[in-house]
Amino acid sequence: MALAITSSTSISRFEASRDQTAKGPLFGSFQPLDRTHSHSTIVNYSRRQYSVKPLNAESKRNDSIVPLAATMVAPEVAEKVEAEDYEKLAKELQTASPLEIMDKALEKFGNDIAIAFSGAEDVALIEYAHLTGRPFRVFSLDTGRLNPETYKFFDTVEKHYGIHIEYMFPDAVEVQALVRSKGLFSFYEDGHQECCRVRKVRPLRKALKGLRAWITGQRKDQSPGTRAEVPVVQVDPSFEGMDGGTGSLVKWNPVANVDGRDIWNFLRAMNVPVNSLHSQGYISIGCEPCTRPVLPGQHEREGRWWWEDAKAKECGLHKGNIKEENVGYLNGNGNGAVHANGTATVPDIFDTPNVVTLSRAGIENLLKLDDRREPWVVVLYAPWCPLLPGKQCFNKMIWAMEGSYVELADKLAGTGVKVGKFQADGEQKTFAQQELQLGSFPTILFFPKHSSRPIKYPSEKRDADSLMAFVNALR
Ligand code: ADX
Ligand code: SF4
Repeated sequence: MALAITSSTSISRFEASRDQTAKGPLFGSFQPLDRTHSHSTIVNYSRRQYSVKPLNAESKRNDSIVPLAATMVAPEVAEKVEAEDYEKLAKELQTASPLEIMDKALEKFGNDIAIAFSGAEDVALIEYAHLTGRPFRVFSLDTGRLNPETYKFFDTVEKHYGIHIEYMFPDAVEVQALVRSKGLFSFYEDGHQECCRVRKVRPLRKALKGLRAWITGQRKDQSPGTRAEVPVVQVDPSFEGMDGGTGSLVKWNPVANVDGRDIWNFLRAMNVPVNSLHSQGYISIGCEPCTRPVLPGQHEREGRWWWEDAKAKECGLHKGNIKEENVGYLNGNGNGAVHANGTATVPDIFDTPNVVTLSRAGIENLLKLDDRREPWVVVLYAPWCPLLPGKQCFNKMIWAMEGSYVELADKLAGTGVKVGKFQADGEQKTFAQQELQLGSFPTILFFPKHSSRPIKYPSEKRDADSLMAFVNALR
């Protein structure tokens, strides 16, 4: 029963030195960590040698990779327990090539590891795995919302490498519940976390429960806000492997240190097929409604969830990248007080005398041309939490832009442009959606002096200079 795949025809520079492979691959299995050391980077690595059927012996498909490891391998040799310190290993592999890292990962975990393939330039991972000459598995999360070009690309990749991608699908009942209650595009209104959780994160969790390690195409340069410190290998900070418990899964990021341009040089040099969306201006590719092409000079991440703040752009697959200090407010240590009824007072954000707090009557006045003596810039904000829906906390996206908005207000002080804030959640939300173009929080509006209609700030850039450029263009 083999859904996993092999690149049996490839001859790699590693092959000659892989005497163990000739006997059969080595498979690693993890033992749960001592829970009292759940943040340790050392994993008890139980190394066994198994005899396996060739991975490409059968090509029958299965929509879940969960049972595969159990059905494919049969222990043959007594185990020898080793402790692996993944922090140390990451340091040792810091200057290693992606090919070496990939080879090490596949050697260590054999059939219990799989490449997570998104259908974009991370096809480089598949090419590297192919070049090692080792058997390897690939899975992909089919959210149901991918571009047609991506589906075609999956097919091309399967044929090019002679592999079967193990697709994971979201739970139909969960998708139904989400779409029936909130529509097909709820992510534009209240953030992508909920939809991503249903369509990506839960299927990923299921996939990982059948593995002991996974391989991703994360790179440091993909997202300076969240991925700048991605190591080449780590104990997965967020998900569990088949043995369960913190520390039961290892995450390999073989191209963490590779520059995006070098990935593309590699793909070209090796004549690797690529997603046709790349030739239409797309760089980073995810789901169709949440991905768009970028302009020359724009960062690739600006094409993903462009209506949200850069620091919130992790869909949950790699949520371990979001730093503690950036989510400290999640634990209730923001400025807001939480009441017994579960609501929270809004912390006094945008805290400067240069930002005026507008009431409903105040902002309604602003909507009337007659009452406007000077132009205004106003932020619409809410104290809800995009990462823990249902719980109130200091809004991460607002938190991320607080400093720049305060800086903007300070810069505009005395210039004739007034700066305000309006809390637009709760009972104000419908009004704000209907009258103030509220989509997601935060929304920034400019009320020109001589026009009744506020103009919405269209960019996701929340730095003070970008906000200032917007104001200066319209004042
Ligand atoms: S995301 O979290 O923002 O969606 P990104 O698109 O940057 O992730 O991809 C980083 C890595 O996450 C990919 O190289 C891949 O390993 C994994 N990944 C992302 N999307 C998928 C997917 N749909 N299926 C499988 N793996 C994925
Ligand atoms: Fe849903 Fe968009 Fe996330 Fe895809 S990227 S799962 S469509 S929110």
